[in-house]
Amino acid sequence: MKINEIKCEPFDDQRPGTAGLRKKVTVFQQPHYLQCFVQAIFDCLDLPADATLVIGGDGRFFNREAITTIIAMAAAEGVARVVVGQNGWLSTPAASHLIRHEGAAAGLILTASHNPGGPDGDFGLKFNMASGGQAPESLTDAVYERSKTLTGYRIADLDIPDLRQTGSFSLAGLRLDVVDPVDAYTDLMQTLFDFPRIRAMLAGGRRVHFDALNAITGPYAERILCDELGAPRDSVRHTRPLEDFGGLHPDPNPVDAPHLLELALSDDPPDLIAASDGDGDRNMILGPGLMVSPGDSLAIMLEHCERIPGYANGVPGVARSMPTSRAVDAVAEAHGIPCFETPTGWRFFSNLLTAGKIGLCGEESFGTSSSHVGEKDGLWAVLFWLNLMAELEQPVDQIVHAHWARYGRWFFQRRDYFIADTGQAQALIADLGRRLPTLPNTLHGGQRVAAADVFNYTDPVDHSVSRDQGFRVFLEGGGRIVFRLSGTGTAGATLRVYLDHRETGPERVTLPADDILSPLGEAAASIARIADHTGLAQPTAVI
Ligand code: G1P
Ligand code: ZN
Repeated sequence: MKINEIKCEPFDDQRPGTAGLRKKVTVFQQPHYLQCFVQAIFDCLDLPADATLVIGGDGRFFNREAITTIIAMAAAEGVARVVVGQNGWLSTPAASHLIRHEGAAAGLILTASHNPGGPDGDFGLKFNMASGGQAPESLTDAVYERSKTLTGYRIADLDIPDLRQTGSFSLAGLRLDVVDPVDAYTDLMQTLFDFPRIRAMLAGGRRVHFDALNAITGPYAERILCDELGAPRDSVRHTRPLEDFGGLHPDPNPVDAPHLLELALSDDPPDLIAASDGDGDRNMILGPGLMVSPGDSLAIMLEHCERIPGYANGVPGVARSMPTSRAVDAVAEAHGIPCFETPTGWRFFSNLLTAGKIGLCGEESFGTSSSHVGEKDGLWAVLFWLNLMAELEQPVDQIVHAHWARYGRWFFQRRDYFIADTGQAQALIADLGRRLPTLPNTLHGGQRVAAADVFNYTDPVDHSVSRDQGFRVFLEGGGRIVFRLSGTGTAGATLRVYLDHRETGPERVTLPADDILSPLGEAAASIARIADHTGLAQPTAVI
């Protein structure tokens, strides 16, 4: 095998964010940019001699080109075997599963998740460990440090086959296995859920509607929901992964996929409506007349998990990211199991899952999963809900109302403020940090602050400490406001403001969320002096 040693200048902007390195496609297209980041990963991973690597992505623009480059670099690194999804496709959860299933040393997943695709959109690369979970912060930090000093990379001269056919190829010492991206994942889902029972429910007339938003979950949904579970073909939509997602924004939330909320609120809605994001790790669940907030979804899954075959023995604990609503805490308490509060970002769940401390976890950003993979998993959540509906013999809305009747309802909103000038965003955070100790007892829009703190996290497994993971403000009356800056954007800054407040009683739990949360939103704007710092009188998006 001929290996080329290419010299280049180091890059200084390759710091991985909440989930890998995400940049505009045009940034990744710069000469040597992708290659240097991949070399920095290889240098820090220190792969064993007989290593297997899993590579795949969400099919967005630049996916195919990047995969070919990475395969040639893996060959130069002495990797023994590369497993890649046909067409270069693997959803994030399927890639995580395949890493474990193939005994791989690591995986490289090409995605910018829910960020827009196409030549003017975003691209991204994240790397996962043998556990299937995302690299820990210590490793992503090391990769960033390495990238700043790297002056070259190695790449093999290889004739890499077209990835459109499955099969095994021998490439001058490297074995390349092109596999069906759906097979292993489908088998895994069959071990967790009662497929015959779901199939019988759908045959009996319950209707499901799944929208893949022209992204990676299309082939998975067709196989599992239609071929395996017998749902009619027209119950799955937008199932062909497109390089630019057909212009859709593949983020399953009511703002970016309003047509699904409209369907839920229509006269004759399906019993379950769902969608996933660009790389298949997020989920949105809706039912007749409502969207299930992600915090509620996690709480309801925990409440009933023993009815699902894969969770029949219950779970040892549960975790939610800090800004996620506290609905699941109450269920964990009722079940007598611990509830962990982690910083934003899926990787913080990894240690807890691997150590067996938790069995279910979730984030307010439409992400839920369990220890079946090392990532969040969109279709898994849909199947969980279908299995629950079959077991409880109820559609989504009835399951949710029964939950609120027992535990009360945690109203939740995330208000995003897009701030074009990152300096203003930094100044707002610095100012709020300075004033935090003086907030208790002050009044903001009629709300009195009870306590305020900076969220620092000590990992219960490896005891690593992650500081400055957001500000928490607790209000008298039980409400909570959280402030943090997004770590996944590729331009400007986004201030995320999270509001949560619990209500009980049948007449309160069905009120519009704005009625309950607007006073908290006003208090948040006042506490952080958002308008003074940014000129923004209103949030850019409310999710
Ligand atoms: C966002 C979400 C976070 C999620 C991440 C990756 O990160 O808020 O929950 O883990 O995307 O999907 P953020 O932009 O807030 O840093
Ligand atoms: Zn995603």
